[in-house]
Formats: sequence, C-alpha cells, structure tokens
Amino acid sequence: MAEIANELVVNKDADFQAFYTRLIANAAAIESLFMSIYGAHPQRDQQFKQLVTTIVLAHQNRRAALKKIDEEKLHKGNWHLSQEIVGMSLYVDRFAGKIQDVGQRLDYLNDLGVNFLHLMPIFESPLGESDGGYAVSDFRKIDPRFGKLEDLHSLKMDMEQKGMYLMLDFVLNHTSHHHEWALKAKAGDPVYRDFYYMYDDRQIPDQLDATMPEIFPESSPGNFTYINECRQWVMTVFHHYQWDLNYTNPAVFNAMLDNLFFYANLGVDIVRIDAPAFIWKKIGTTCQNLPEAHTLLCLLKQCLQVAAPGVALLGEAIVAPAEIMKYFGQGLYTGRECDFAYNATQMALQWDALATGDTRVMLAAQPLLAQKPKGSSWITYTRCHDDIGLGYDDNMIASAGFQPYAHRKFLKEYYSGVHPDSPATGALFSVNPKTQDARISGSLASLCGLEKAQKENSSSARSIAIRKIMLMQAHSFMLGGIPILFYGDEQGLVNDYSYLSDPGKSYDNRWMHRPIINWELWEKGNNQDGQEIYNATQQLIRIRKKLPALADFGNIRWLTPHNIHVAGFMREIPGQTIYCLFNYGSTTAYLTWFAFRESGRSVKQLYDHWSGNKIETGPDHEYLIMDPYQFFLLEVVE
Ligand code: GLC
Repeated sequence: MAEIANELVVNKDADFQAFYTRLIANAAAIESLFMSIYGAHPQRDQQFKQLVTTIVLAHQNRRAALKKIDEEKLHKGNWHLSQEIVGMSLYVDRFAGKIQDVGQRLDYLNDLGVNFLHLMPIFESPLGESDGGYAVSDFRKIDPRFGKLEDLHSLKMDMEQKGMYLMLDFVLNHTSHHHEWALKAKAGDPVYRDFYYMYDDRQIPDQLDATMPEIFPESSPGNFTYINECRQWVMTVFHHYQWDLNYTNPAVFNAMLDNLFFYANLGVDIVRIDAPAFIWKKIGTTCQNLPEAHTLLCLLKQCLQVAAPGVALLGEAIVAPAEIMKYFGQGLYTGRECDFAYNATQMALQWDALATGDTRVMLAAQPLLAQKPKGSSWITYTRCHDDIGLGYDDNMIASAGFQPYAHRKFLKEYYSGVHPDSPATGALFSVNPKTQDARISGSLASLCGLEKAQKENSSSARSIAIRKIMLMQAHSFMLGGIPILFYGDEQGLVNDYSYLSDPGKSYDNRWMHRPIINWELWEKGNNQDGQEIYNATQQLIRIRKKLPALADFGNIRWLTPHNIHVAGFMREIPGQTIYCLFNYGSTTAYLTWFAFRESGRSVKQLYDHWSGNKIETGPDHEYLIMDPYQFFLLEVVE
C-alpha cells in the first residue's frame, strides 16, 4: 500500500511526510478490512489500487487551510468532545430560503449560542421523490433549489471565521433512481447493474423479504420495486425511488469513498452517515447491523483518518440500544468506527418518562449506554427531522415492572393524543398493520402539549408545556455529547400541517414537524411562548458552555433511583462536580439529601446554575423539593 502511494506522489514535501506517516500507521488495518470483504472478488487487486489512489488524491486535493485545521484538531485532541459545541439541524429552504440566506441567519444562531450546523441534505434530489433530500441524484451538485457549490463555499468561509462547525449528510445506502448510475443500470449497462441489487424474478427478493422488516410499510411496503423499463426487481428498502447500493461490489465502495472525500474536502467537520445499518444484506437476516456493515464503516473511517484526519463521522444508526453501541467499533476497532452515534435510546426514553412520569425504564438503559468507548461521543437530542421510535429493549421496559406491549401501546396513544389524559398533539408514523409497530411524529412543542394549550388558550397548560419542553432540552444538553437542536424548537413551533396539501409530502407525516420559519412573524415578537422558550434555550446553552465538567469524558454517574419520578446524574472532573436533576413527575417530588452524599462526599452547599439560587443541603432524612417538571443544574460549592 505504501509503495502504491509512494509511486503516485512526485512532490514529497513535509505535508506529504505527515500524510505518509498516517498512511503507514493505518495501512495494515485498511488492507485487512478491505480484503476481509473483497478478498475473493475477481477485481480485488485493481480495486485495492484504486482505493489507495482515491486516498492519495483526496489528500492532494485538500486545501491548505483545511490541512491546517486538521493539524489544529489533532493538536487539540478530542476537539469533538467539548462542551462548547452546540448544534442545530435545519433545512436550508424551510429555515432560511437558499444557502446564501443561511448566511444571513448566522447572527441569530450566534445569539442563541449555536456554533455547529447540520444542513439537511442539499445535494440534487428530484422534487416529489426526494425523501427530504435523502434520495440523491447527484452527490456533488447542490440542488438548484438551494443554490450552488460556491454558495456553500462562501457560507463555510463565513462559518469558519465565526468558529462554527459544519455537518453534512452522506447518503451511503442508496441513490435516487434518477442518479446517473441508476439510469445506466436501467438502460442495461452491466457495470452499473452491478451497482445495485437487481433481479430478473422474485426468487431472491422473496427469500430476502421473508426476514427483512419494512421501513415504510404504509407508503412503501416490501423491500423491492419492479422496474418496467428494464424488467427487473430492484432492492428499495426505503421508498420505491431509493435504490440500495450493492456494497459487495468494491467499485461501489470506491466510488462512494471518493464522494465521502468530496464532502470532507468541502470543509465538513462531521459527516453524518445516513442509514449505515442497512449497507450489507444477507438472506436469512434482517439485513440490518450485519458485521460486514461495520467492517465497511471501519474501512471508511481509517481511510478518512489518513487523508482528512480532522473529519469526524456520525453513524446515524437508529436501532436497538445494544446495536447502536457497536457503531463505535468493536474488538480491535473499539473507538475506531464512528466518532459519534445518536443517543436515540436516551432520546426515546426521555419521551417515555415524560408520558409515564416514571424514570425507571430510562435508568435501566444506562449501564449499556455507559459502555461507550472513551473518545467517542453522542449526538444528544429531543427531536430531529425523523419520527421517534420506541425500539428500546423489552427487558428495559419489563425491568421497570411494565408489560412491553401494553407500555408501547400507551405511549403511542399518549403522543398521538388519543389517550384521554394526554395533552400531546402528534401522530403515529409508519404503522405496520401486521405487527402494530409504529413510531411517533410531532414537534417538540406539540408533543409537550403547547399546541393544545394554545388552542385552548390556557395559560396554566402553556406554562406546563413550556416546563416540559425545557426539561427535555436541559436533560439532553447536560448528558454529554453534542446537543443538536432541531430548528424551530428554539421558537417553540407547533406542528405544521401544510404538508398535507403537497402530494410530494402528504404520504409522510414526518413533515408535520419540519416547519417553515416565518421570520417576519418571529421578528415582530408576538410569539410570547416562543420568546420564552428561545430565552430559556439560550440560557441553557450558556450554562453548558461554561461548565467544563459537561464535556464528554464519559464522566457521567447516574444516581440511585431514590424517587422514581426524578432522573439524576453527576458530571465530575477534578475541581468541578455538577448534579443534574430532572423531575418527570406531574406532582411535587422529594429527593433525599442523601442522594448527594451517597458516593461518600460531604456536600453542604450547591449553586443552581438554572435559577441562580444557592441551596444548603439538609440532613439525610430531609428532602430537596422539586416542582412538577422542574430541573436543577447544581454545582457543588462546598
Ligand atoms: C435516515 C434519514 C431519514 C430517511 C432515511 C432514508 O434515516 O434520517 O429521514 O428517510 O435515512 O434515507
């Protein structure tokens, strides 16, 4: 491998030497990962050479400024664990208009405290068959709806100046059926037919379908689509217009690696790998989370490490808790696969606790989540553009004394607003008629009851809803990992039902929580609830940034459940101890002062960063009193 690189490079300057050192350090891993998947492939050697060439060219094409940033990040070490990073995910068009207009909103984001942007998919994607941009027809061309590549460059420059980080999506598992590879495959080109899973008849599709779950059972049932033009069954795990790429073909891997480097060289700091759980398929399995998918991700990571070491990977694996953990890497590759994963388990369990007022299921999940390797981190969140899945383990539910089926049924009824005691306005997403499995759509504010409270014009219900919103946000901000706000949630925006009149969106109720920001309305300042939520979010961000104990050193210790309504944990570094406490109950909760001393320390005085109050602790038989949905962010003073 090193020889191939040596041959390819003429100018062996200091920059090359640093690259070469990283190449040597990772060469054995890259070769063995590649060969373990493609070792028996007839084009093995040619494709391996292609892979090395791709890495070398990627480094050569990386602009000097980015190489400098790589060096700075390497020097800083674990830049991505800092408590000073706070993110937001946003759709360029729905948040601002065009990419250029996002630039106009940087001051707003700066004021809020957001310094890391996840721009939802911006590469070309056919309107009406887009899946919010996750059906990409050209990985390198910005969709004209958003602007041009130059606009992204200048936004990136503005962001760099303001010290802001950027994340873009890399849709690894599939392309749009309008991608040039798919068009060629449709036209019968054998090279590109081999880029997808295409079959003459239903023989293999039937075998695969037998064990593959359906992702969108209502709008896109099954995992294959019959394409009339070429008389083939094509694998389409997501929508019928998203064709799954065939990663048993090394040419596909190399082509996508090259695309990954294209994003890295745009200056992206974190690449969000979309749906990595799905990239390997095997008859007789669910075709999710297979070991080969992990091998391929490790391979991507090691290649990136060589050519663009300042770029981190986020694996968007919204799967069972134990499976999520594997995306950080296993065995020799522990901590060497994805730098980040979404803490989807914790997110869903916060919604669970908010509905039940009981934190025991959440607590049951923590020993597993604590196994995250040092150096890797979470993306923490309460809402994103997707639905909320209830895919945590049955045994976590059972260990809290609930019956899993009935428990999930309650949650679905609660958040879809069907339950008589529920203030939530949401909807079920992707109900599977065979299993009754379903996920939940709805904005943070609507699911917390603000939509209903506003409709009923009830100030007490509004204030409860706002308390719930801030409880959910505070919890995800303090856990460890980078919190990512979903745009609009900082303004407390409720569901937007306009998607129902757009045929390209009406089949997908996730659009109800993907609002279009009305800046004129916002700037008028009439949205009082929104303003209150904005100010509180801004305050939370300030608190997070100034407390170094909140950086993600894996330094989280959950408290014993002294009160089932209260979730609490301690974040500690030498010189700073913070207790974060969250009352998920709808009534006043009492927490024994012993909770602060159970680890053997003597805690006499605490400072609550949220309220600004100093609190003296009492004897063990007395209590810290918490209002419904109240939270405390307490630093030990003495
Ligand atoms: C990811 C995205 C989701 C999309 C799917 C298919 O899960 O977050 O929005 O529908 O991938 O690309």
